[in-house]
Amino acid sequence: MSISHDTPIGWGILGTGNVARRFAADFSYLNDARLVGVGSRRQETARLFGKRFEIHHQYGSYQELVDDPGVEAVYIATPASVHKNNIMLCLAAGKAVLCEKPLTVTGHEAEEVIALARLKQVFLMEAMWTRFLPIIRKLRDLLAQGRIGKIHHFMADLGSPAPFDPQSRIFNAELGGGAMLQRGIYLLSLANMIFGSPSSVKSFSMKGESGVDEETGFLLKYGCHSLATLWCSISIAGQREGAIVGTNGLLRIHPPINCPSCLTVQDFRPQKTSRTLKRSDGTPTLKNRLIQYAKGKRFLHLLRERFPVFSNRILHGIHTTIFYDPPKGEGLHYQVSEVNRCLRAGRMESPIMPWDESLSIMRTMDQIRAQS
Ligand SMILES: NC(=O)c1ccc[n+]([C@@H]2O[C@H](COP(=O)([O-])OP(=O)(O)OC[C@H]3O[C@@H](n4cnc5c(N)ncnc54)[C@H](OP(=O)(O)O)[C@@H]3O)[C@@H](O)[C@H]2O)c1
Repeated sequence: MSISHDTPIGWGILGTGNVARRFAADFSYLNDARLVGVGSRRQETARLFGKRFEIHHQYGSYQELVDDPGVEAVYIATPASVHKNNIMLCLAAGKAVLCEKPLTVTGHEAEEVIALARLKQVFLMEAMWTRFLPIIRKLRDLLAQGRIGKIHHFMADLGSPAPFDPQSRIFNAELGGGAMLQRGIYLLSLANMIFGSPSSVKSFSMKGESGVDEETGFLLKYGCHSLATLWCSISIAGQREGAIVGTNGLLRIHPPINCPSCLTVQDFRPQKTSRTLKRSDGTPTLKNRLIQYAKGKRFLHLLRERFPVFSNRILHGIHTTIFYDPPKGEGLHYQVSEVNRCLRAGRMESPIMPWDESLSIMRTMDQIRAQS
């Protein structure tokens, strides 16, 4: 399908649940896209959704939505278990696809949808919205510049409890529920963005009443030098933050890790030599004497507690920089801008969330879930 170049790109929403509502609300931040149609399994649901978000074409089936010639791209906002069929439906109709995370439930399903996108020469991207947030773009730049040196470790958690409902997409195995598919996907995707595909995978899970993993811990190894240690949960709250450890510094991703606004970078400055801390006659400088004094006193604990940035800098030579760039609205519109940019450039995949990466992530997910 050719994309209109003079008018905003026409979007359709497939599925009218929670995230679809947030996605539609975020359209107010976009100049280059307009909502043309909405498709639901029920006509009445489509009508109510369309009325609320002023979407003119309201369809009582997904097929009718993809048959609308004004719809150029479709956002799929359904449970993971039906992503494969929904993607196939859109691609067969020649519509560009932005599909919610996880792209599919298994690596094999991901292979199938990517093969069809390739065959049909139609755009497809996993809606891993976190990657497109301004602060995560900053993180990518910092890592690419080598700001924290060679990366050795990524540790993070996403413990975010949902009310127990065995029928919900979070707890229902038949809808693609479970901690890994619903929460761990964010951590796995970040780890993949940082290191690429892992060379080894170890995981442990705790299953709940509905049969899905409610908590999963996983350890990923990358070659000989790098590790990721990650934990996710749908029943227990965690810190929801992360840290990337490099040879020259540490980069913290502040909570919530799936939608952060803030990063801090601690640069490990080379430790001062004894020569710089001593006078030419060998006696310690006043500054060094004060540091030695403070190190032995309760004053040090106070300094660390009250002024962590200052104390790190003075006592350990650690320099901290804070980056703050909160997303506008729900933050779901940045990925739409990326899809539009790709469509206008005639691309079938995004360099920020390419097919190979979604496939690698789903294959790692298969290994983690098989061990659990
Ligand atoms: N990016 C984010 O922040 C974010 C947040 C939450 C969820 N998600 C992802 O978005 C997707 C949807 O999550 P959600 O919270 O919006 O789910 P939800 O509230 O349960 O809504 C899912 C919608 O999918 C449609 N659907 C199609 N087949 C279905 C089936 N067999 N059972 C139930 N619903 C079905 C329904 O729409 P109709 O009745 O209109 O057909 C339903 O309203 C999931 O893949 C999830 O991982 C992303």
